Amino acid sequence: MISQTLLEARKFEEIAEKQISETDRPVFHLSTRAGWMNDPNGFSFFEGEYHLFYQYHPYASHWGPMHWGHAVSRDLLHWTYLPAALAPDMPYDRDGCFSGSALTLPDGRHLLMYTGVKKEYPVMGKEIQTQCLAVWDGTEYRKYEKNPVLTAEDLPEGASIHDFRDPKMFLLEDGTYRCIVGSRPEDGSGQILLFESEDAFHWSFKKVLAENKGRFGKMWECPDMFYLDGKCVLLTSPQDMLPKGFEYHNGNGTLCLIGDFDRETETFTEESDQAIDYGIDFYAPQTILTQDGRRVMIGWMQNWDTCDLHMEQRIWCGQMSLPRELSIREGRLYQVPIRELDACRRNEVSFEGVVEGTQSLDGFAGRLVDLELEIDVPDEAASYRKFSVQFAKNEMYHTQLSYRPHEETLKIDRKFSGSRRAVIHQRRAKVSLRNGKLKLRVILDRYSVEVFINDGEQAMSAVIYTDLAADEICFVSEGKTRIRATKWDLEV
Ligand code: FRU
Repeated sequence: MISQTLLEARKFEEIAEKQISETDRPVFHLSTRAGWMNDPNGFSFFEGEYHLFYQYHPYASHWGPMHWGHAVSRDLLHWTYLPAALAPDMPYDRDGCFSGSALTLPDGRHLLMYTGVKKEYPVMGKEIQTQCLAVWDGTEYRKYEKNPVLTAEDLPEGASIHDFRDPKMFLLEDGTYRCIVGSRPEDGSGQILLFESEDAFHWSFKKVLAENKGRFGKMWECPDMFYLDGKCVLLTSPQDMLPKGFEYHNGNGTLCLIGDFDRETETFTEESDQAIDYGIDFYAPQTILTQDGRRVMIGWMQNWDTCDLHMEQRIWCGQMSLPRELSIREGRLYQVPIRELDACRRNEVSFEGVVEGTQSLDGFAGRLVDLELEIDVPDEAASYRKFSVQFAKNEMYHTQLSYRPHEETLKIDRKFSGSRRAVIHQRRAKVSLRNGKLKLRVILDRYSVEVFINDGEQAMSAVIYTDLAADEICFVSEGKTRIRATKWDLEV
């Protein structure tokens, strides 16, 4: 029997999705089926398809009691919605099924682990967070009868039961299981706990895997961990980070720690840290190892502090980032759009030459766009002070990317992208030139822009709210800039 709460959500989402017109949604970024979406959950491959679940409140375009939405895809670009998978319908998760992960058991069943949330009354509604399981039985994700499987009793001393969430499970080569969970230690900062299990159903605490030690914000949410190019990468999304130079300007953003992992002692040794995204909208990513061995990451392309902008304009809120292929080069995490997108390029136009003042170029327009730009080494004949590309543009709107070579900063500005609110619309990143050149790849999908800088060394993502009629692209140069630009329409 499935619960009334889940049945109602399914009935509701079927009706509500019809009220969202097709042009009101992105084309190749997964958006919420109805209402509200936040974090990606349970990103996994199961029975021939990629599954992506998500934090979901189908009933309104704002956050509410969390369900798990569900979609599947074969290429990570075309998504099909399935009925909502989980609803808050048990005593231990009656206030929400928070983020979690998925894996396939050796007997072929799909297993979900999520955070069950229950408000403690009457103590001012403080939440008890525990970890719970649900197993696919061929028709439904059935909640495990012995839920919750990790509770207050499994926590190390001082760890809060109110901030204990977002389990990511792994199956090890020796057939045992591990899971890492975000936690708040006694000092109010963040840490990641490691748990172990023989069968993925009975879990016990192993150790504290990583600690904030007063750096990188407070509670560490949504951890993920993987080996990549000989290193071990730990991703987590801390709340309330302070900016450090040009890093971590988003308050809630995603932190990437790169280091080594000793398999014997299960110890992570951190070597470097970096932000994952230097734009405005990116949080809580999850990764997967694709069938052909690529490490691919998808994040929630939104920002907790500015989702109101979206809600104001639409009856839905929430879309995912592009799936991004990850690699490590010279100690940094690189991200590029999944290569499946290359096959969607149509109608190539290109330009090579010098730009001065404001210039439109033949064929450069559109809101479903893949644009590659190479800005050449300044020399006597072309020594620019600032070079910008404007897109999603008409007389009223535009979004702008601008580079100042003397400052080595790249700025994204969405002031004129349809927002009617005095919140931050700009973000700057320190971007170094490579042999004097700057390479940008800009992907537009109706209501977003993602910029990949210098072959993926940095990324910048932002949601835009601009009317679709604004589809011009133009280049603006202070001084002369020599550029090479190639633009494709994207047909996904
Ligand atoms: C991160 C987060 C998670 C939590 C979920 C609730 O965005 O706060 O920590 O599980 O969202 O929707």
